[in-house]
Amino acid sequence: MSAVVPPSAPDGHGSEAVSVAAERRWAFIVMAIIGLLVLMMVVTGLHWASMPPSRVETVDVRTLHLEGEFVESNLGTTLGADGKVTVRLIAQQYSFMPQCIVVPAGMPVTFRGTATDTIHGFVVGRTNANTMLVPGFVATFTTSFHKTGEQLMPCHEYCGTGHEAMWGRVQVLPAEDFLSRARGGERLSCVQG
Ligand code: CUA
Repeated sequence: MSAVVPPSAPDGHGSEAVSVAAERRWAFIVMAIIGLLVLMMVVTGLHWASMPPSRVETVDVRTLHLEGEFVESNLGTTLGADGKVTVRLIAQQYSFMPQCIVVPAGMPVTFRGTATDTIHGFVVGRTNANTMLVPGFVATFTTSFHKTGEQLMPCHEYCGTGHEAMWGRVQVLPAEDFLSRARGGERLSCVQG
């Protein structure tokens, strides 16, 4: 019974040197990949630390309807004295307040929203207006709408048995129409028809 002898067995050192070199090479490549991944984590971590998600704004759910920014009379769209358009809304099982939102086309619109009971979210039609609404926190983002017309605004976080039926509407008006209606200073509501 003879052992299986590899071709280079007589000296043995040639193949060993080759395999050691290959292992070193691969060890170096793997270390380089790990180093690159760690670098990516550090860079993205620092980058995101300076982005909006780190600006956490909280709000007391228990007094949401009673005082402060999200009382019912303050919900909806406003045109500030500085010309900025702000939309405030609340999500709850299973509706948005207000149910219909008016915004101008081609102007920056800042959304500020929160939820009363559980996690909700919304996306406006095919636009990039998209956020989660978490109880106790104020979600805010600024975007612009380029096409006039009505868009659906469904809840996109599963929030209970009525989730599928939870949606609002967004009416995008030409900027002139919006501005002429907003001059009065009160909260804007949707036009019928
Ligand atoms: Cu609210 Cu799903």
